[in-house]
Amino acid sequence: MSYSNINFPSTRMRRMRFDDFSRRLMRENQLSADDLIYPMFVTEGLNLREPISSMPGIERYSLDGLLAEAREVCNLGIPAIALFPVVSSDKKSENAAEAYNPDGLIQRCVRALKKSLPNLGIITDVALDPFTLHGQDGLINDSGYVVNDETNEVLVRQALSHAEAGADIVAPSDMMDGRIGAIRQALEAKGHINVRILAYSAKYASSFYGPFRDAVGSSGNLGGGNKYSYQMDPANSDEALREIQLDLQEGADIVMVKPGMPYLDIIRRVKDSYGVPTFAYQVSGEYAMIKAAAMNGWLDEKPVVLEALLAFKRAGSDAILTYYAKSVASWLGK
Ligand code: PBG
Repeated sequence: MSYSNINFPSTRMRRMRFDDFSRRLMRENQLSADDLIYPMFVTEGLNLREPISSMPGIERYSLDGLLAEAREVCNLGIPAIALFPVVSSDKKSENAAEAYNPDGLIQRCVRALKKSLPNLGIITDVALDPFTLHGQDGLINDSGYVVNDETNEVLVRQALSHAEAGADIVAPSDMMDGRIGAIRQALEAKGHINVRILAYSAKYASSFYGPFRDAVGSSGNLGGGNKYSYQMDPANSDEALREIQLDLQEGADIVMVKPGMPYLDIIRRVKDSYGVPTFAYQVSGEYAMIKAAAMNGWLDEKPVVLEALLAFKRAGSDAILTYYAKSVASWLGK
């Protein structure tokens, strides 16, 4: 075996790593508060802050608390929040009509947020799972199959109600076919020409969503059910590119890959193939894993989180939805 290297010693890779200043100068990627989106759970009621047991440090807020918390998020320099509703069982139904109630929880939250914090970007989730009795993201037929085209009609009404309330970005996370085109057409028709669509284009049928389903209370409704007939198979990668391409053709402004860290290869392929704004979601299970290890003293939380999020940037994501957004923004000191 020969170890000859014709570049040595003219090239010593360690030279540039020798000092802090040269390490900083050659650093290819940076993480800043500008890259972060904070997902927040909202619930009916007054003065409520409910902890989520599988997501220590994350709470569900009633509208008053949401406003106070969002102000803090804004002061930390975080550009946007993503809202997820937790509604009581009497608001859930077969047809998910509460999803597009102009006075529904999300619609009221959006109006209040835009009034008190007009510069904070507000992203709303377009999907029916908080509002269906069965916890699926769409309407189902007699055999329990999530029906695509009928679901799209409800998603369009939901997205319009969010836009009318003042949402800056609507984010369909449901994975129905054709929903981006349908929503884009409806937004244009109603004059909402600058409402952006963040498409959860490559959303995988992942087991990392468990704590989120606890947070919004949909896991019980979902029972032993799964979302395999619409969310993507974790084994696939080419399929993600097709999903992205279709959503872009239909009018998406931003595409998303979800979950994050186990899917960094997908983020890179998407960015290289399309060069469009690409976001990634460090999902509830990713948060829970790091948090649990940190709480046990098995991992050093701050450097681990910063390293994980930097990896999203290196993979090509422009922004990251993360439950760590507030912590990171304060660690980075704005
Ligand atoms: C549902 C939705 C899910 C998440 C965001 N929107 C869960 C699911 O698809 O069952 C997961 C987010 C997370 O795990 O942090 N429309």
